[in-house]
Amino acid sequence: MRLTRKVSVWPVGLVGGRRYERPLVEQGRVVGWYTGWRPDRPFAIDMAGFAVNLKVILSHPKAVFKRSGSQPGMQESDFLKQITTVQELEPKAANCTKVLVWHTRTEKANLVFEPKHNQDVIHIEV
Ligand SMILES: *[C@@H]1O[C@H](CO)[C@@H](O)[C@H](O)[C@H]1NC(C)=O
Repeated sequence: MRLTRKVSVWPVGLVGGRRYERPLVEQGRVVGWYTGWRPDRPFAIDMAGFAVNLKVILSHPKAVFKRSGSQPGMQESDFLKQITTVQELEPKAANCTKVLVWHTRTEKANLVFEPKHNQDVIHIEV
């Protein structure tokens, strides 16, 4: 990530209802997207799947990452197309063959506790 010259990309685990999504790379260049949803997006990539060198941001002062107003799932594409092209993307994580980043949530996991025996239930007096 810190070796990003302009814009770099990599696979993301547990996203889009899949085990992972990733840029498809041939001869060191991004040529498409493995994704569960709308592979026709210009940049079919999750927010967790790219980095932008600050110099690129500073040299595109009008580029915006819209909080709202983009079509669903188009935020990343709407942003990235202002500052780069698919041909320019720098694949990381061994030409996008490794998942080193996961899409996670801060909400509580939906764990279900089903005691098999009554002694598994412990009442704590407070
Ligand atoms: C990525 O692919 C390019 C072109 O095939 C190759 O030269 C390079 O060594 C590969 N990089 C890694 C980290 O596997």
